[in-house]
Amino acid sequence: MTTLTRREGLVLGAGSALAAMLPESVWAEPAPSLHALAQAKGMRFGSAIAANAGGGIVNSRYTALIKAECGLLVAENEMKWQALRPSPTHFDFTGADAIMDYAMRNGLALRGHNLLWNRPQWQPAWFKEYDFGVQQASEAAALLTTHINTVCARYQGRIKSYDVVNETVLPETGLLAETYLSKAMGSTEALVDLAFHTARAEAPDAQLVYNDYMSWEPGNETHRAGVLKFLEGLRQRGTPVDALGIQSHLIAQDARPQEREWRSFIDAVTGMGYALLITEFDVRDSALPKDFAKRDAGVAALGKAYLDMMFSYTQLRDVLVWGMADPFSWLQGFEPRKDGAPTRGCLLDDAYRAKPLRAAVAAAFEAAPKR
Ligand code: G3I
Repeated sequence: MTTLTRREGLVLGAGSALAAMLPESVWAEPAPSLHALAQAKGMRFGSAIAANAGGGIVNSRYTALIKAECGLLVAENEMKWQALRPSPTHFDFTGADAIMDYAMRNGLALRGHNLLWNRPQWQPAWFKEYDFGVQQASEAAALLTTHINTVCARYQGRIKSYDVVNETVLPETGLLAETYLSKAMGSTEALVDLAFHTARAEAPDAQLVYNDYMSWEPGNETHRAGVLKFLEGLRQRGTPVDALGIQSHLIAQDARPQEREWRSFIDAVTGMGYALLITEFDVRDSALPKDFAKRDAGVAALGKAYLDMMFSYTQLRDVLVWGMADPFSWLQGFEPRKDGAPTRGCLLDDAYRAKPLRAAVAAAFEAAPKR
């Protein structure tokens, strides 16, 4: 098949009528790729991906984009308990395996998200009715260790970084969330520690990550303080945790980000010896004007400022976006704009055209110090 050169692609314009008639695999993507730019600095770039959705491995236009830009993937939903555990006694690896196979076939690394999302609303509904019996703590421990051992054994040697625990610090109080599992265990600390120890034993070579959404906008003070206290506790107890996953669902808004406070937070995290990852980058644009050009410029400026700061920390190597293109983003459903316009928080638009945010990410990699 004839492949367009970059120049030809640009002359044509990826969104033009003629471009729309071209076979999907000749989608014109700006060169060099984001992963190549990241690699030049000892970093990696990647994205969340689905199994059976528009932003998934079933969409060849989307996968052309993934192959062109990414070196790293994460399953958006398919490795969560809700997907893997239809019942207490069954595992369903259909979606997870499909994504793993896709990653292997295409030479892409895959992160594991997640082994324990410690919020009741994001755990399978059957937990509510589950009978933990008289020996509650040991039953809860058995459920958790069976889950982690099964997942880690299945992807042994293939998944080298896990979000072992996701979002257990409550943003409103900074305290740890309680779930059916943690109550049965006796404490959230005991549950979380068991999760990390089990992952370390079953996947000794994998990077073990605590992943959360504390951010740099005002209003995150309690969440950040809670995460720091949690990370300190993990160190004091000798819990094996290698890194903090900073989700990075940024919010474009009038109030200025708390840059100084954010730096102190990251300094404290790295000071405790944790590595950093950006695990779910995108920009919530509800407060920006509807006008595309203005909105895209605002999103890109915010993204660039944030990534420049984050990339100055050489403890940060992996950067993942939470989906590459606007139409498939969780933001469309979870954070719709009041004016009804589609959100534009991803790097590419609904016609897979690169937006200023893609250029901002590229520029941030180019400006980053080498690892
Ligand atoms: O697949 C089912 C479908 O069969 C069913 O008909 C439909 C009805 O609601 O639901 C579908 O599942 C939805 C799933 O996304 C796949 O689209 C779930 O309801 C919905 O809750 C789920 O939302 C995901 C959410 O996490 C909760 O798991 C979002 O896609 C996903 O982007 C979001 O990702 C989270 C990260 O894991 C953690 N950090 C925050 C981030 C954004 O919220």
